This record gives sequence, structure tokens and C-alpha cells, in this order.
Amino acid sequence: VGYTGARADRSVREVLLTGLSNLEYRGYDSAGVAIANGSLAVRKREGELPELKAAMEGGAEPVPDDGLAGIGHTRWSTHGPPSDANAHPHTDCGGRVAVVHNGIIENYRDLRESLAERGHEFESDTDTEVIPHLIEGALGQGDEFEAAFRRAVDRIEGSYAVAAVHADRETVHATRYRSPLVLGLDDDGYFLASDVPAFLEYTDRVVYLEDGQFASIRPSGAEITDERGSLVDVSVETIDWEPEDAGKSGYDHYMLKEIHDQPRAIRRCLRGRLRELDGAVEIDELGGLDRPKRVHFVACGTSYHASLYGARRFRERGIPSTAFLASEYDVGKIPIEEGTVVIGVTQSGETADTLTALREANSAGATTVTVSNVVGSSASREADHVLYIRAGPEISVAATKTFASQQVALTLLASAITGACDRDTLEALRSLPDHVQSVLDQSRAREIAAEYADAEMDAYFFIGRGYAAPVALEGALKLKEISYAHAEGFPAGELKHGPLALVTERTPVFAVVTGDSRAETMRGNINEVASRGAPVVAVTDSPEPLAADVDHVVPIPETDPRLAPILANVQLQLVAYWIARELGRSIDKPRNLAKSVTVQ
Ligand code: G6P
Repeated sequence: VGYTGARADRSVREVLLTGLSNLEYRGYDSAGVAIANGSLAVRKREGELPELKAAMEGGAEPVPDDGLAGIGHTRWSTHGPPSDANAHPHTDCGGRVAVVHNGIIENYRDLRESLAERGHEFESDTDTEVIPHLIEGALGQGDEFEAAFRRAVDRIEGSYAVAAVHADRETVHATRYRSPLVLGLDDDGYFLASDVPAFLEYTDRVVYLEDGQFASIRPSGAEITDERGSLVDVSVETIDWEPEDAGKSGYDHYMLKEIHDQPRAIRRCLRGRLRELDGAVEIDELGGLDRPKRVHFVACGTSYHASLYGARRFRERGIPSTAFLASEYDVGKIPIEEGTVVIGVTQSGETADTLTALREANSAGATTVTVSNVVGSSASREADHVLYIRAGPEISVAATKTFASQQVALTLLASAITGACDRDTLEALRSLPDHVQSVLDQSRAREIAAEYADAEMDAYFFIGRGYAAPVALEGALKLKEISYAHAEGFPAGELKHGPLALVTERTPVFAVVTGDSRAETMRGNINEVASRGAPVVAVTDSPEPLAADVDHVVPIPETDPRLAPILANVQLQLVAYWIARELGRSIDKPRNLAKSVTVQ
């Protein structure tokens, strides 16, 4: 985050700390700020923001309240463990230049070596630290600050969003390449950040920078230029977020708020896309996208689980479709035939693996579609078409509402692209927000969690078939992310091909049984684990026949069997939340994880 402004009611320090607190979900193993005010006040600490705040107030020279300009950073380590020295900002030898950076500088070893030969001393293990030294070198050769910044950026290879300040300048210079950077504009105040929530309480007017563009902000204005320094025309966008989107709305955690936000998120995803008269699905943004011959989904984490669900939706409509983990998508080996559409599913639109897969698919001649939550994100600009899921900002690291919205969006996409949507599906989609609401209002998840939140458990298993299989995988991912318990999800048929060997009375099994033709087979799988002593919780729309076979039934409303897993997932999200809470975990910011993973 970076800020400069001419407003008496807002200090650089306040804006940086607010921005960092809003961006903590992107990384939180260390944090730091640098404020320019004739000299450069730099503070950085391992740990979360309160550590940094304490360091800013204490010490021989507390950080000044205000300044000319400032930058700040929260870190998710790539090079070097979390430590005070490795935290950003990094400075040059003279302490006149400070830099923050997201991404990876691939040639940093060579640069570091040649800088060291010229007498530069390094204090951290990071790749970032070469940048302030490169700037210092260029300043030493007589460059102005901006020219020195550009010269330094010219030398680095890799991916970056980088911002720099100089002790006695009121300007922040920044640029990006394959890592997000956004400019915020207010009256007499200018912001830079890797994501919009950083400054949303100050302004909703933003410019998304493109790769290779440079931004310079000063109290009197902001400029965006290209690699050669020529001004570029940019469009200022207004962020369409509602007031409820900011803050926790009275919930203890963002995750709980976001779970409860699902009815609203789904309504927004559906809005204007279901045609009343003939019951068709229409997605304005997708004009010109023909029925594909085959579809490849590329995605990571929760978005991959939504893609498994989406691929099944497309196959059901007669289009051969496969979901790939983006990091394993190998365009060279997976032929892209004519008529192939590659769909990148990514909440943030910034996940490096997904972006790379989309780029490779583009160069191989595929038609590409991004399904994202973030307007203007890199992935949404990379693809030929973009479908926004409109879930509103998701802050908790563990994805919840965006998973539901992705499943709904992919359901709509499958219908729109094939020109088919039966009335029953349409009705079920319309009722989905109310069904989710009734799950939220009546969930027994807290009570179930209290029974099974036990550090003595060996593992937690999640099973499902068909449309419920991705939800079983997602249920396990949610639990492991936020509770640190060993949790695994399986398509239920795979149980007896290995996992069953691990089943004991200390492996609770969550079975998603939704009322389609597979319910009976699922019952067989439940009996297989129950007879080996495992406690079983069935999340189901048909409680009656199962009640005798399981320890607990967690009911969900009856609906279209292909949408029922979305309701079951809400129950599993709540179970994960309450287990993590029972165990006293850091729910919104689980250890070692970050929400946007912009490195491969
Ligand atoms: C990280 C997050 C996950 C997310 C995954 C993919 O691992 O912690 O919650 O599912 O990235 O993110 P994307 O933004 O591409 O959906």
C-alpha cells in the first residue's frame, strides 16, 4: 500500500495502517512501513500488525504521525523466513530509499552479486532488497528519483508489483508486471495498493494498472505512464460494493460473516441472468461465445473444487469437460483442439498458476473465459470473456461464499452456453438463496462441532458422490485450512481403495448424501465406515432412511439434487468454522496460508 495526499484530516501513517489492516488477508507473517519526511522513518516487524504498531510508537524515535508520502507491506514469505530483517520495506545503504514488493525477482542472485561487488551491503535474505540498492546505484549516477526507479525496474526479471519512496520526495513511484496493482483517487489523496479493499473506506474510484505501466502519485495528482514514460489514457472505474461489504457486520470473524452472506451473494450472481418469459439463462457479458466442442477448467484450491462441479454441469449438457489443477495444466501435452474453451475459475483473479494456465491456453489458440469475483483483476483481463460471480469482497482466507457463487455461476454458464435450462433447474436456482438462508437459520453445526472438535481425533473424512463429490473435497479443505486437523475428502467410491485402512473410531466421517440415484450406494459406503467404528454424520436432504445408520443427521432442504450439494456445503462450512473455534484457531488468517497466491 502507498499513500500521499494534501488533506489535513488524514495522515500518511493512518492511511498506511488502515490499508495494511485491510490487506492482512494477503499475508500476515510480518509487516512494515516507511514514511518520508525529509528523512525516512522505517519500521518493520515479524508477526501481525499489532507488533508493527507497537514498534512504531516505541523506540528512541517514534514514527512521525504524518509525512510527505509512505509505503507499507504485509508479507507472506517466499525468500527467507519471517523475521524483522526480511519484512518489507527494504532500504538502500544510505537509508534514503525504501521499497515494497510482491512477487518474485528471478534474477536477484545475479543482481545481488554484482551489487555486492560494488560495495552494497545486504541485510535480508529477500529477493526484494536488490531494488532499493539498484535505485541507489542509479541515483549515484545522477538520475532523478523517477528515472532511477525505472532503471532499477528495467534490470529485474520475474513478477512484481513494486512501490518506492525517497526520504525527501512527496512522490510514490510504482509499477507492475504479473502482480496486481491498483490506484485509488480521492480529492487530494492518492493511493496505491495490491487490492482495492486497502483504501475502500477512503475512495471507490480506482484505476487498474496494466502490466508494464508506471504510476506516480503526489499530493497534487497522479500520473500513469508506459514503459517509455509517455502518459497513457486510463479509465477510472467506480467500485460497486455495498456498505455491508466492509467490516464484519457484528460477526466475530469475516468467515462467519461471509458464510452468512451467501444468500445475498447468490442473489447477486443470479440477478438479471434468468430470463423470466421463456426460462432461459442469459449472460450479457458472454456475447459471441459459441457452444464449445470441449471445455478445460483450470483453477486452484476451492476454485478447483468449484471447477469439478462445473465440469460435471457441462458434461451433463453434452460437452466433454475436464477440470485441471492449474499448476498441473500442461498445454504442450494436453492438445487444444479447435473449439476448445478454457475456463479459468479464480476468486481473486490473481492466482499465478491460474493466470499462467490461461496465458498458455491463449497462446495455444483456445478461446478463454475467466470466472472471477474481482472486477479488473489480471485473469479477467487475460481472457477473451469474463463472467463475474458478484459475491462481493471476501476477506477471510478460507473461501466460502465465493465457492457457492462459483457453483451457481458455472451452472448459469453451462445453461447459457448450451442454450438449455429446464424450468425445474430455473425454479431451484431462484429458491436457492432462501434454501441457504433456512440452512443458516436452523443449522446444528455448532453442536456437531462441539462433539467432534477433539485434538485426539486421527483424521476427519468427507465423502460424497456425483455432484456431492467436489463438496466432500471442499468440506475437508475448509476443515484442514482453519482447524489444522488432518482432513481428507474422497469421492465415496474410492473409500475402499485405500482410505478405509485408516478408518477407526477416531476418524469421524461426514457423508454428503443428496437425493439422487446415488443415495442408496452412499448408504452402503456409510455402513462400510460405521461398521469399522467410525462416527458418521450425514448431511442430507432425505434424513429418514439414514437416521438409523448414522450418529447424526444434519438436514438440508429438498431441492434439485444438483443444487443440494451447495446447501450441504453450507453445513460443512459451519462445522469447520465451529470446530476451528472450539480449538481456538486463527480462523480468518490461518497459519502459513494467504488468500491471493501470486507466486507459482
Ligand atoms: C489460496 C486461497 C484459497 C483459494 C486459492 C485459489 O490458496 O487460500 O482459498 O481457493 O488460493 O484462489 P483463487 O483466487 O484463484 O480462487
